[in-house]
Amino acid sequence: MPARGKDGISRRSAPTLWNVGFLDRLFWDGRAGSLEVQAQGPLFAADEMANTADGVVSTLESNAAYRHLFSVAFGRDEGKSISVKEVTSALAAFESSLVSLNSRYDRYAHGDSSSLSEQEVHGYNVFRGFVARCSQCHIPPLFASNDLAVVGAPPVPGAAYDLGAGGLQADAALTPSSAWRRAASPDRRARRRRRSRAVRSGGALPRCRAAR
Ligand code: HEC
Repeated sequence: MPARGKDGISRRSAPTLWNVGFLDRLFWDGRAGSLEVQAQGPLFAADEMANTADGVVSTLESNAAYRHLFSVAFGRDEGKSISVKEVTSALAAFESSLVSLNSRYDRYAHGDSSSLSEQEVHGYNVFRGFVARCSQCHIPPLFASNDLAVVGAPPVPGAAYDLGAGGLQADAALTPSSAWRRAASPDRRARRRRRSRAVRSGGALPRCRAAR
């Protein structure tokens, strides 16, 4: 579901907030290294909340309850102004509390085999099996990792082409053209053959291909 902002729908969907406290690469392209930095994105982005540092501070300062609560939370004098740094720390603290610790999956993983239906167990086995290999990148228990990967999702019809992480890190490994070149290169084909041999002989799976 695309994120809705001030002037309509933004370019990318909002990632989940569940378990974000465990990640140190935020946004789909991994461009923020902390929740505090990430929080400044939507606050100030022209196509999201389009606020300014002064705007955020003055709105919060105009509310006596916020002035009081911020001074208590940050252990300081109420007369001192709220800062953007306090706002992003507060957002990061809240987001870090969103931990999915006791999902039905978690209970299953802890030995309660009745917490997933037979069909769900079958799906989980496909997910972690050699054929689908989803869990190579979606690593339990978070079903996420900090790695970026070229996953081959088709462009959104009608939308401007989105280079993802390749667009901002100038990292050749993440641009589609080089991904396609690699896919077609003899080196890549040899790796694939090695990989399928390893799988056929029951060997360990190679690590998920990911690039910085
Ligand atoms: C090569 C690593 C890799 C493998 C293997 C993989 N994924 Fe992903 N998956 C990703 C990445 C990276 C993303 C984030 C995509 C993006 O940036 O839009 C993602 C996103 C997703 C999402 C969207 C998550 C969200 O929060 O919106 C789902 C659902 C998903 N994958 C399911 C699967 C399933 C099911 C499989 C197995 C059939 C699978 N994935 C295999 C890397 C992988």
